Amino acid sequence: MPDTATPAYRDAYSRINGVVVVGEGLADSHFRLLAKAIPEDQEELIRLGAMEGRHARDFTGCGRNLGVKPDVVLAKRLFAPLHQLFLECDRSGDLPGCLVIQGLVVECFAVAAYRHYLPVADSYAQPITATVLNDEAEHLNYAEGWLKARFAEVEPAVTAICRRALPVSLAILQELTADMRAIGMDPLDLVASFSELLQQSLETIGYAPKQARRLIMGAAASVTLN
Ligand SMILES: [Fe+2]
Ligand SMILES: [Fe+2]
Repeated sequence: MPDTATPAYRDAYSRINGVVVVGEGLADSHFRLLAKAIPEDQEELIRLGAMEGRHARDFTGCGRNLGVKPDVVLAKRLFAPLHQLFLECDRSGDLPGCLVIQGLVVECFAVAAYRHYLPVADSYAQPITATVLNDEAEHLNYAEGWLKARFAEVEPAVTAICRRALPVSLAILQELTADMRAIGMDPLDLVASFSELLQQSLETIGYAPKQARRLIMGAAASVTLN
């Protein structure tokens, strides 16, 4: 277990925690936008958004418990391209794009990240992370269900947004590899889990395994992790 009292741990944790808190806050606002865009699921989407808001507060508490302030400025800068891409999809009425960005890509990232954080989390953060992990799986299921029900018509849009959103998402991770290692996580394990989860999701909504793999590998090729 990493020593959470060392300056190196606390320094890295401020950036990781910042990304988590900002990511959860953005997820909250994305679900609220989705609630407006999909009136028939409004109630459900507002409920999912509220869960994200709770995650943001709970993880803020994890930082506070360690006496660490989240680096929100860095996190906002890192998330800006992905958030902008979501807003662009929302503005242009590209619902599949919105659902892929928040519902598949961000949620698969969240599940992968929290899964690998769980075994190295401090005793305060551990039960919180375990609860959040279950919630994110529910969010993933919502987006999968929506996209699966319309796969024939949304497939081109899903493919197009994956090509744009995946490099942008992996770039966030790229900036955090040293910090992840400092808190006991292996960034390569995280990327492997993320790819597996996304592969499963893309197959669930209707892609052939080979097509899904190509889509993911195409994006991963643009990114190197140190
Ligand atoms: Fe969340
Ligand atoms: Fe989520």
